[in-house]
Order: sequence, then C-alpha cells, then structure tokens
Amino acid sequence: MDFTGKVVLITGASSGIGASCALHFANLSAELALVGRNVENLKSVADQCEQASGIKPLIIIADISVEENIARIINETINKYGRLDVLVNNAGITRMAGVMDDITNFDLLTATNIRGPYLLSQQAIPHLIETKGNIVNVSSIVSTVPIPTMTPYCMTKAALDMFMKCAALELACKGVRVNSVNPGPVETELFKRAGFDEESNKGLYSGMAASMPLKKCAFSEDVAKMVVFLASDHASCITGSRHEVDCGLHLGAPPSFDGK
Ligand SMILES: NC(=O)c1ccc[n+]([C@@H]2O[C@H](COP(=O)([O-])OP(=O)(O)OC[C@H]3O[C@@H](n4cnc5c(N)ncnc54)[C@H](OP(=O)(O)O)[C@@H]3O)[C@@H](O)[C@H]2O)c1
Repeated sequence: MDFTGKVVLITGASSGIGASCALHFANLSAELALVGRNVENLKSVADQCEQASGIKPLIIIADISVEENIARIINETINKYGRLDVLVNNAGITRMAGVMDDITNFDLLTATNIRGPYLLSQQAIPHLIETKGNIVNVSSIVSTVPIPTMTPYCMTKAALDMFMKCAALELACKGVRVNSVNPGPVETELFKRAGFDEESNKGLYSGMAASMPLKKCAFSEDVAKMVVFLASDHASCITGSRHEVDCGLHLGAPPSFDGK
C-alpha cells in the first residue's frame, strides 16, 4: 500500500486508535491533517509521523462537537494541501450511563460521536468526490451488541453505522466509498476519560480479554491496519461495510446443548 500524494484527515489523532492510524498512514507516505483538542499530544504524534515519513503533518486543534469548528477543519486542510483523499472519523467518547441516567450523557455523546462526524463528512464530501476518495468511520462492536450500562454510546455507534451505509449508497455513483471499522475492546484512554482510574481500566481490559473467543483484546495497531486497508486502493470494491476487529466478540457465547 502506498499513500504518496494522498491527503488523509484523521480526527482524534492525539491518542489511542487515531494516533496509531496517523503513524500507519505516515509509514505509507500519506500527507496528514491531524485533528484533536490536546495540543501537546497532537504535537507528539505529529513528530512521530514526521520521523516516519519525513513529511510534517498539519495539526488542527478543534473540538468536533462544536459546529463552528467543522468548516475550519476542512478549510485548513484544503488551504494547506489543495485536496482531500481520505477522512477518518475516529474521534469519540464514552460515558457509563443507562437509560435512567442524566440526558446530558446522551447529548454529549451524540454531539461528539454522531453530529460531529456527520457534519465533517458533509463538508468533506465535495472534496472526496473530486479525488474519488473515501471515508472510514471508527465505530464499535457495541453498535450491534447492547450494553445497558452504555446505552447512549451504543446508540451513537448504531447511528454511525447506519449513516455509513446510507452515505455509501448515496455516494457510490460519485466513486466515493464509505466504510466502518468496528473494534471490540482496545486498551486506550477511552474509559479513563469516562471516569475509570488506571487500575480499574487495566482490570476492565484484562477481564474483557478473558471473555473474548480469542482470549485477548486487540491493540490500536490492529484497528489502524484495518482502517488503512479500507482507505487504500486494495479496498476499491468495498463500500457500505462494517469490519469487526473484535477478537470474535460479535459471535457471542456459544449455545449450550447439555442443559448446563
Ligand atoms: N478503546 C476501545 O475499547 C474502543 C472500542 C471500540 C471503539 N472505539 C472507538 O475508537 C475511537 C477512538 O477512541 P480511543 O479508544 O482511541 O480513545 P482515546 O484514547 O480516548 O482517544 C480518543 C480521541 O478522540 C479525540 N476526541 C474526543 N472527543 C473529541 C472532540 N470533541 N473533538 C475532537 N477530538 C475529540 C481525543 O482527542 P483529545 O484527547 O485531543 O481531546 C482523542 O484523540 C472512538 O470513536 C471510540 O468510540 C474504542
């Protein structure tokens, strides 16, 4: 795979899966626009990308849940590079909340996980039509696996998947592909930002690893490899598809035939 001369915009590039995507695209010589809110983390990821490719990424400090920032993200990217080939809608947050918890959880998650990617895609699409580019959404396995302590999060990821499918069908005639990667648990900052301390975060992932069919959790790199593949010409016949990177979690527990 080679992204020489291609411009890739990644949201949430300052941490976890997004940072890993940035490095993988850099290793394949992409020109990068990296979006996030944490300046220091973004600079650190950008430095690592530059070391890998020799190309300095564009850093865009922006909160994607704030509508005024959306046009600025696209404008800064086009002003710098003059084109856009790939949009990776990766930025996202979670909260531990069920249906009886405060509606502010729903509002916050909807704004970040759905409205932001929706608006950003809207602004990116005219440029992606020009390059016959593509969008990759980082969704989640919980878009189809309900977790009642994460109801708003599951809902936003289900909505993101349907957005991906509808947009794929709408844009196929323009040569623009839209896909999603649906990770299972991946140890990042995601749950720490939702209130878990270091120790409980470790315990959460080791517990989940034990219950996976493959008895492990994926790393950010495993997700990034799928994102890069979908964004590449190797996936030129793939659109409107979900791609689970979940160590088999979506398969569920096998049915019991012995009455136990
Ligand atoms: N980790 C998992 O187990 C898992 C599983 C399935 C799906 N996912 C999905 O993977 C994606 C990446 O999450 P992660 O696990 O890598 O978590 P992470 O380490 O917490 O990284 C989240 C990234 O999103 C950015 N972000 C969050 N809200 C933002 C906003 N309003 N505006 C701009 N950037 C924002 C953060 O940027 P700043 O730090 O700069 O604010 C950070 O770069 C998310 O969509 C998440 O739902 C994660």
